[in-house]
Amino acid sequence: MSAIRLEQIKGNDAGLKAALTEAHLPTDDIEDHGRTFYRTQSSDGRAIGFLGVERCGDDFLLRSVVVLPDHQGQGLGSVLVERAVADLDQAGDVFLATTGAAPFFTRVGFSEVLRDSVPVAVLATRQLSSICPSSATIMRLTRPPT
Ligand SMILES: CC(C)(COP(=O)(O)OP(=O)(O)OC[C@H]1O[C@@H](n2cnc3c(N)ncnc32)[C@H](O)[C@@H]1OP(=O)(O)O)[C@@H](O)C(=O)NCCC(=O)NCCS
Repeated sequence: MSAIRLEQIKGNDAGLKAALTEAHLPTDDIEDHGRTFYRTQSSDGRAIGFLGVERCGDDFLLRSVVVLPDHQGQGLGSVLVERAVADLDQAGDVFLATTGAAPFFTRVGFSEVLRDSVPVAVLATRQLSSICPSSATIMRLTRPPT
């Protein structure tokens, strides 16, 4: 897949909310302070994927990763995630919580971690503390050594 461009958007972006709702992903906290969302679009200018990042102290929570149904299975989700995490401060760890897409995130370098090993600031996010079910899988990105 050719390089993609991530455009920063606000949490109140209507396309973001619609895509998350359709994918049954949480929208309750997308307009809260401290989240940064991105959109990528096709050559005709239509949004085809979104993701968000929350800063949690020194670490990050990757969230709201969604590729619109017509564009799934073509490598876009992988490129989106790889591109977004490449831009994050390498000193911080990147975590996420997922109920259904752990195999996808394993392919892009995340591994399951025990809740006990997750930093308090990550556990305190609304995603992990109240929105995601306690059965959600928590994963951390393993980055190649620099
Ligand atoms: C998860 C998602 C972002 C992946 O985007 P994508 O563009 O389809 O991903 P890619 O094309 O880069 O990778 C596809 C591969 O991941 C696998 N995959 C994608 N979603 C998966 C899922 N939910 N569970 C297991 N595997 C999944 C595909 O089977 C495919 O594997 P293959 O190449 O061996 O067939 C997309 O399916 C999506 O938006 N799903 C709904 C929202 C969601 O669950 N987001 C995660 C929130 S934590």
